[in-house]
Amino acid sequence: SSPRHLMSISELTPNEFTSLVRNAATRKQAVKAGRAPTSLTTSLAGKTVAMMFSKRSTRTRVSTEAAVTMLGGHPMFLGKDDIQLGVNESLYDTSVVISSMTSCMVARVGPHSDVANLAKHSSVPVINALSDDFHPLQTIADFLTIHEAFPSSKGSSSGLGLNGLKVAWVGDSNNVLFDLATACVKMGVDIAVASPKGYGIPEPMRQLITSAAKGVGSPGKLSETTIPQDAIKDADVLVTDTWISMGQESEKQKRLDAFAGYQITNELAKRGGAKEGWKFMHCLPRHAEEVADEVFYGSRSLVFPEAENRLWAAVSALEGFVVNKGQL
Ligand code: CP
Ligand code: NVA
Repeated sequence: SSPRHLMSISELTPNEFTSLVRNAATRKQAVKAGRAPTSLTTSLAGKTVAMMFSKRSTRTRVSTEAAVTMLGGHPMFLGKDDIQLGVNESLYDTSVVISSMTSCMVARVGPHSDVANLAKHSSVPVINALSDDFHPLQTIADFLTIHEAFPSSKGSSSGLGLNGLKVAWVGDSNNVLFDLATACVKMGVDIAVASPKGYGIPEPMRQLITSAAKGVGSPGKLSETTIPQDAIKDADVLVTDTWISMGQESEKQKRLDAFAGYQITNELAKRGGAKEGWKFMHCLPRHAEEVADEVFYGSRSLVFPEAENRLWAAVSALEGFVVNKGQL
């Protein structure tokens, strides 16, 4: 039977997503307290994880390599000049060959169909390390970060106890947003998106995000606007990302012009009426145009714990998909 892959958050049930986040939290606490079980640190012993990256990466690369090492395995980094990833060799051939020698492929690609094609033909689990459409590892880390910053007051035993929170995304509608928004809907967190006209959520993606509500008792609501203040109203968490994703470099000037007025500042948060205890998140890498230093380096910022949480998200995803073969 074919292995289970991690392509996007939309493929996970709310319970499965919750268990990935909870396991990340549990592993983080145990390792930090110096009581990592041997079952954790040897679970990938003798196994190689191929990391196939066709784009630059700091966090995803370092967190994945460190996570594989922590689990006792060998991370094999294969950059775009190292292997034939869709260049000079078909994705089918690449996938069959690499999966015959390794226990997992972690792939960062351009078009989402590239990572989907690797998965289709792979005999081992494939984890999406960012495509043009999705960034599931980031979303797991982001929910761990939100879970830590907003401990459940209800002490709920199921879910993450985040029901009723509101996230405001101010900026480009991109890969990071699509998985984050899907998780919000599944976890009962409202998500308001403010993007300039022409940079909103594409219709098929909107359908995917809102369909995450199916079968969920009290799903989070997605709302969309072109006015940053409207999204920010009553938000607990303000989030943004670069306005110019990898592959969009030629649109730089056009995008800088289109996003004028979207920079997250303390003044914008105040004008928009964010909740008193609002926090700030950003997946990084960050540029000053989308968020001012006063916010990014300020006391409300969760960006560095959020980045560290990428490590625990990677540990959890590798355990879930490779060690436990997708039985989350
Ligand atoms: N957030 C994130 O994925 O960063 P990198 O592109 O540096 O991996
Ligand atoms: N949206 C960004 C995220 C980088 C982690 C990009 O795709 O370049």
